[in-house]
Amino acid sequence: SSMHSELEKLLDTSRGAEREVSRKDFEGFKNIFHRFLQVKGPSIEWIKIQRPPEDSIQPYDKIAGRGLPDNVADCLNKLAVVKLNGGLGTSMGCKGPKSLISVRNENTFLDLTVQQIEHLNKTYNTDVPLVLMNSFNTDEDTNKILQKYTHHRVKIHTFNQSRYPRVNKESLLPVSTNLSMTGQSAEGWYPPGHGDIYASFYNSGLLDQLIAQGKEYIFVSNIDNLGATVDLHILHHMVSQPNGKRCEFIMEVTDKTRADVKGGTLIQYEGKLRLLEIAQVPKAHVDEFKSVSKFKIFNTNNLWISLTAIQRLQEQKAMDLEIIVNPKTLDGGQNVVQLETAVGAAIKCFDNALGINVPRSRFLPVKTTSDLLLVMSNLYSLDAGSLTMSPKREFPTTPHVKLGSSFTKVQEYLTRFESIPDMLELDHLTVSGDVTLGKNVSVKGTVIIIANHGDRIDIPAGSMLENKIVSGNLRI
Ligand code: UTP
Repeated sequence: SSMHSELEKLLDTSRGAEREVSRKDFEGFKNIFHRFLQVKGPSIEWIKIQRPPEDSIQPYDKIAGRGLPDNVADCLNKLAVVKLNGGLGTSMGCKGPKSLISVRNENTFLDLTVQQIEHLNKTYNTDVPLVLMNSFNTDEDTNKILQKYTHHRVKIHTFNQSRYPRVNKESLLPVSTNLSMTGQSAEGWYPPGHGDIYASFYNSGLLDQLIAQGKEYIFVSNIDNLGATVDLHILHHMVSQPNGKRCEFIMEVTDKTRADVKGGTLIQYEGKLRLLEIAQVPKAHVDEFKSVSKFKIFNTNNLWISLTAIQRLQEQKAMDLEIIVNPKTLDGGQNVVQLETAVGAAIKCFDNALGINVPRSRFLPVKTTSDLLLVMSNLYSLDAGSLTMSPKREFPTTPHVKLGSSFTKVQEYLTRFESIPDMLELDHLTVSGDVTLGKNVSVKGTVIIIANHGDRIDIPAGSMLENKIVSGNLRI
């Protein structure tokens, strides 16, 4: 109740339209905060976890094997594409929305997304809209850029996710004293994770609007996943409802490799499919969770969801997503927590939810400049906004790239590569320290370039490095 009066005080600092938005945000926050206080112990009892039943995770080939119907356009006209666009580019040293970082030939994540959907609409003569879920961190910059697409054949809608107050780790009271997002008080607020999509999409009125326009499904994905294109086979599966079951939710999962320790996995729990995230795993079972043999697949966050099902669950207030407690330290040193939810956690709420095990190519996230180097290189070719692995690569695996801390920021990374090396025959690349690469370098097999502290290495233009270790001091 002290929290309650603190929230009322905060609300009193707002006016007009802002006040209405803030009031809804506070309703949502009070709800998650109360649920957080009620939680006792872990949300999962380890011994109750079961392997998902055989038919609850279908191989993609089986879905695709049924072919496409004549009415692809009818299916597409029932679809809206939603991109999660609440996040910033901070981890790659960029200010502003992550979606506005250039990833390939000056095209940003957002440009590529628009091109993909426009291509679909032109090819099938359809009207698939793009919906962006922005946060208070990304809304203004994104809306400025959107004017650029007015003459493209894709209708773009946006809505904002909620804005919740960060609370002090010990006192659990809000750290902000007013609703301002400038100066010190900016640190007092956060977007509460992509699980917020259900409530904010519904509250924005856009969900109802799309249903009224005849839309039935959304395809949701991370904007930084360049592999998350509209898959016509999965769409067809969702629309045609084979077996007479109304499948309301599809999660695309993919085979886990030893490098994928982070993503959530699907389990059977109390008779339903459920997403299990590492944050929910008791410490004693973390190694088991990470193992590839017991939990073989992970969530790509590519999701297909029925719009009327979201509407129903919101109206029934039946979306009780597990809370992820995310601890942070503010610039001033204060320890806070932010309460978040994940979009995939809702799988347990929907009827006849299904996992589809898709090829790895549908999961191409760009989280670091190492990922960026791969997608900028000749390993991929770009076609109508979609990246596909070059047929010139002789093996289907992607190379491992590890760039050191002097490459973390996009700006610095770009100055260190005069052009992107030829990587068609690469298996493994490590580059660390004060290193630059000249134009038209090619790297093959395993290449390791390490400049120790105080040293600098400049790889001359036109060099061909094959199974080589370069270290020490090398200047042209
Ligand atoms: P992140 O980049 O933060 O998460 O967001 P992650 O490390 O991939 O892990 P997952 O996907 O949470 O498992 C992924 C996508 O979700 C958006 C980001 O913009 C990005 O596209 N996002 C995240 C939001 O839109 N709102 C949020 O509150 C958090």
